[in-house]
Amino acid sequence: MSATVVEVEKVEKMKNKPEDDQLGFGKYFTDHMFVMEYCDETGWGNPRISPYEPITLDPAAVIFHYGQTVFEGLKAYRTNDERILLFRPDMNMKRMNKSCERLSMPPIDEAEVLDYLKQLISLEKDWVPSSEGTSLYIRPFIIATEPFLGLAPSKQYKLVIILSPVGSYYPQGIQPVDIKVEEQYTRAVRGGTGMAKTAGNYCATFNAQSTASKQGFSQVLWLDAIEKKYIEEVGTSNVFFKVNGEVITPELTGSILPGITRMSVIEMLRSWGIPVSERKISIDEVYEYHQEGALEEVFCTGTAAVISPVGAFEWRGTSININDKQIGDVSRRLYDTLTGIQTGKIADPFHWTTEV
Ligand code: COI
Repeated sequence: MSATVVEVEKVEKMKNKPEDDQLGFGKYFTDHMFVMEYCDETGWGNPRISPYEPITLDPAAVIFHYGQTVFEGLKAYRTNDERILLFRPDMNMKRMNKSCERLSMPPIDEAEVLDYLKQLISLEKDWVPSSEGTSLYIRPFIIATEPFLGLAPSKQYKLVIILSPVGSYYPQGIQPVDIKVEEQYTRAVRGGTGMAKTAGNYCATFNAQSTASKQGFSQVLWLDAIEKKYIEEVGTSNVFFKVNGEVITPELTGSILPGITRMSVIEMLRSWGIPVSERKISIDEVYEYHQEGALEEVFCTGTAAVISPVGAFEWRGTSININDKQIGDVSRRLYDTLTGIQTGKIADPFHWTTEV
């Protein structure tokens, strides 16, 4: 079903746009946002584009007390011939519904919300940056708004889409990052909410992440909650290991986020004839591969992180350097191909991009 053209209330005075080299990640927001509401009696309704502004909520709203919320992250890119492309946005809509199901939230009409998102981006197209490594990050989210303290799913929700022009997530760009293997805390456990994009999965990582940052690491690597042995994911992304020519990534067991970049990387690698296995991989195994000289490359994948090579791990006080802290050939090829397709610089044999 195709959505109707939404009502637009334009801002009176547009903001000054930051320079592309000042962007960083998630610091600036465009002039407008998309909003629609849900209540149990009438379903989703009242879609509109309004000025970007604070949201007023009842202090008893369920989101504040029980964290009933989901979010997504995707990007729009400007091509050299001034078209705006989205990368696999249908997959984000699908995943949002999966997250909603896990969090007992009402599903969205995926095609309709995607259409609304395109209308918002069309209005804000001057905000899509064009320099190398920049894009317009799109953050759709749903919050539970019913004022009710009983422990039950909210009967009212608000879906909001905000837009943020961004540069690279890590200040060092595509240069390899150092990662600390987390030994004390856990991100998610099978049967929990790890596979959903929900706030609690992320704020549960802040303490370990702050400690790691103070020690000079960019990110934390999470191990499974039960045996503290098998690799799950990195704070912002999924993780891949190239060992003796084969690429290995942890299988999706319910506690790992099913990344859209992860899925795309697997498809690209297989199309190039590089074997990929999705299986359990333990941290001891990674250290053993390193010892044998078989660990060739490690990289993380995500919408925000794109492809970010890992230069070193630290686990139980022992550090290992990977590929002499250099960007590996496969990481480089994946980065160039993925960003080339996303920005329309190279052909898109997978039909992943959609024009706004
Ligand atoms: C994304 O890559 O879109 C994410 O959601 C990561 C974010 C938590 C920084």
